[in-house]
This record gives sequence, C-alpha cells and structure tokens, in this order.
Amino acid sequence: MKLALSISGVTKDFRIPGSKRWVRAVDNLTLSIRENEVYGLLGPNGSGKSTTIKMALGLMKPSVGECSLFGVASDTPSARLNVGFLPEAPYFQRFLTGRELLRYFAKLAGLSRPETAKRIDALLEKVGLEDAGDRRVGGYSKGMLQRIGLAQALVGDPKLLILDEPTAGVDPVGAAEIASIIRTLKSEGKTVLLCSHLLSQVESVCDRVAIMGRGKRLLEGSIDELTLGTDSSSLQLDGASPELRESVAALAAAEGARVATRRRSLEDLFLELAKGGEGGDD
Ligand SMILES: Nc1ncnc2c1ncn2[C@@H]1O[C@H](COP(=O)(O)OP(=O)(O)O)[C@@H](O)[C@H]1O
Ligand SMILES: [Mg+2]
Repeated sequence: MKLALSISGVTKDFRIPGSKRWVRAVDNLTLSIRENEVYGLLGPNGSGKSTTIKMALGLMKPSVGECSLFGVASDTPSARLNVGFLPEAPYFQRFLTGRELLRYFAKLAGLSRPETAKRIDALLEKVGLEDAGDRRVGGYSKGMLQRIGLAQALVGDPKLLILDEPTAGVDPVGAAEIASIIRTLKSEGKTVLLCSHLLSQVESVCDRVAIMGRGKRLLEGSIDELTLGTDSSSLQLDGASPELRESVAALAAAEGARVATRRRSLEDLFLELAKGGEGGDD
C-alpha cells in the first residue's frame, strides 16, 4: 500500500523558555496515512497535533524519528511539492482581494500566468467564493477566511492536503461546507489529513482517525472500529426499574423485535479518553 505520509517513531522536545526544563510535545509517535484516505488527527489542546503536522511538513525537525511524504524524507525541499497546507491560524494580507491573494500563492507555487487565471477561477468556485473574489480579505468573515485559506492550500493542485483546525471558529453551516469540499477532494483521489475538534465532522468525513493525548497516540482505527464495539453500545431507559427493563427486553424478544441500542459516538469516546487523565494542558 502506498503511503502519503509516514511518521515513524517521532519525538519532539521543546526547551521551556527561560528555564532549564524541557517539555515533550510529541512522544514516540508513529502514524501512516495511506493515499486517498481522509485521516483525522484528534486530541485536546496541547496534545501535540500541530507540532506533529509541522514535523510532517518538514517545517520543524523531530528530536528523534523520521517523517516522509510520498516516500521522500520531509526535510527534502522537493518533498513538499505534492502537499498543500492550511495552518492553524493563517495570516493573510488584509488589503489584498481573495483573487490577488491566490495569485500571490500561485506565483510561489511556480504556476505560469495562463494557468493561474484558470486555476483561480476554478478554486474560488470550489470553495464557494466566486462572488467574493474581488473583495478585500480584510472584510471576509471567519468562514470566508477559512475557505480562502483552503483555496490557498489547493493552489498547486497538491496530492496531499494538511488542514490544521480548518473549522475553528466557523459556524456549523460553514463547517458543513468545508466537510463537503473535503469529500469532493477525496473523490478526486486526494489524501487529506485533518486536525479538528469538531468530532461530529471528523466522524462524517474521515476514513480513519487517531486520538492523541500528551504527545502519544492513544487510539487509532476506522470510525466503525472505534465506535461499533458491542460492549460500548447502550440502551437508555430513563426512570425505569430493573423489572421494567427486563420486561421491555422480554416483550421485544417475544414480538421478534430487538431493543435498539445506541452506537457510541466518537465524541463519547473522546470525552472518556480525556476524562482518563490523558488530556492536554488547558
Ligand atoms: N515552539 C514551542 N516551544 C515550546 N513549547 C511548544 C512549542 N510548540 C508547542 N509547544 C508545546 O508543545 C505541546 C503541544 O503543542 P501543540 O502541538 O501546539 O498541540 P495541539 O496542536 O494539539 O494543541 C504544548 O504543551 C505546547 O505548549
Ligand atoms: Mg494545534
């Protein structure tokens, strides 16, 4: 199986400024992201997600371990040619219009002029900003900023897209639009690594997820593997005595029916893990 991103035995230690102490942001982490997969990286604030992404992109050097993009070591400059990145808190020049901003990034990505014009129109349409392309970015709403950020990440037509909290501060409608763009990208054969706190969104778009806590990978699997376990489904019957509960089950069985059980949501699982003392620093 071909891997879009491989993170192998990676640890990152930071010196705490003004002290001799170190903090371990990422702790012996191994992740493999397959081509054409939508992979969710979850975890509370401070669990090491953004640090992991920066190392995966070759923007930061691991203290220990290696990262590679499509089989090429991440710290090789050419490794990043196939990758688009939307950072956690992107900063854009406020006085540029959306179109000018994309033109700037297209130039950085080495696109030719005729290519650029076509590409920018297509991208503005893809992210639903076709009517706002000539407005200044300074006047964009939070959701529009995230969408122009997404267009920026897609400018070089990358095979792998890395999105660090693309829906932070975006309302549910905007978040659903971003989810729909991610689904389209998957259908076009792209690979997406998505960091998000919006668990219901992660649940609806990701093929597999990993949950991090204190720099470590606590769990990894497909959404079904993580949420379908038979011992984790539950039946909610508020205010019922044990006798009533038994007779409800017996009644259902006698009628050839089954008492429906609720599947554990990804959010339940996340909260259980966070409660288990493996949380982050906030
Ligand atoms: N440049 C840095 N210098 C010192 N500590 C850092 C630096 N970047 C991140 N950290 C620390 O590393 C841990 C993980 O941070 P981060 O990767 O940003 O987590 P997340 O993205 O999951 O919120 C946190 O404790 C954070 O304070
Ligand atoms: Mg982060």
